[in-house]
Amino acid sequence: MTKESTFRFLRFGLGFFALLGTLVAVNVLAGKAGVTGETPWSSSPPSTRDAHEGRTVMERNGCFSCHSVDGFGGSIGPVLNGVGRRKTRDELFGWIQSPWSVKPGTRMPQYHLSAESISNIISYLETKDSMQVNE
Ligand code: HEC
Repeated sequence: MTKESTFRFLRFGLGFFALLGTLVAVNVLAGKAGVTGETPWSSSPPSTRDAHEGRTVMERNGCFSCHSVDGFGGSIGPVLNGVGRRKTRDELFGWIQSPWSVKPGTRMPQYHLSAESISNIISYLETKDSMQVNE
């Protein structure tokens, strides 16, 4: 092998590995995006319809016997206006899905709501930010 061809061979090799590295990095990133993409709300942004459905799910499950929104409801649990600012979506999701796992002994009951119902509730609560509460 001449000096010249060795050089060319090395250059090809480096280029090849650089390309391979990029492909691996892109795949890893895409994989990560796939995992976070599983949260129910990232695929479709909340719509008024989701929020309306969330309100209905809350009425059906008696959430308002303990919580109030816009001044309507019970006072055993915290006022839910502005909760979307105090807690992240993941925290809200985990809480509504299973309050007992987050805080054993809490007075909030354990529901068996579908992921869709929970994300609709969150959509609804997010429309009720702290600007609407007298604080
Ligand atoms: C029996 C009363 C009761 C019912 C019914 C109830 N909750 Fe609660 N909830 C509570 C209490 C009490 C807390 C405060 C939790 C704690 O610190 O123990 C709470 C906390 C919360 C929080 C977190 C509030 C914050 O400020 O961090 C959310 C969100 C919530 N509830 C949503 C709901 C939803 C949605 C429903 C209906 C599916 C519901 N709750 C039904 C009593 C209730």
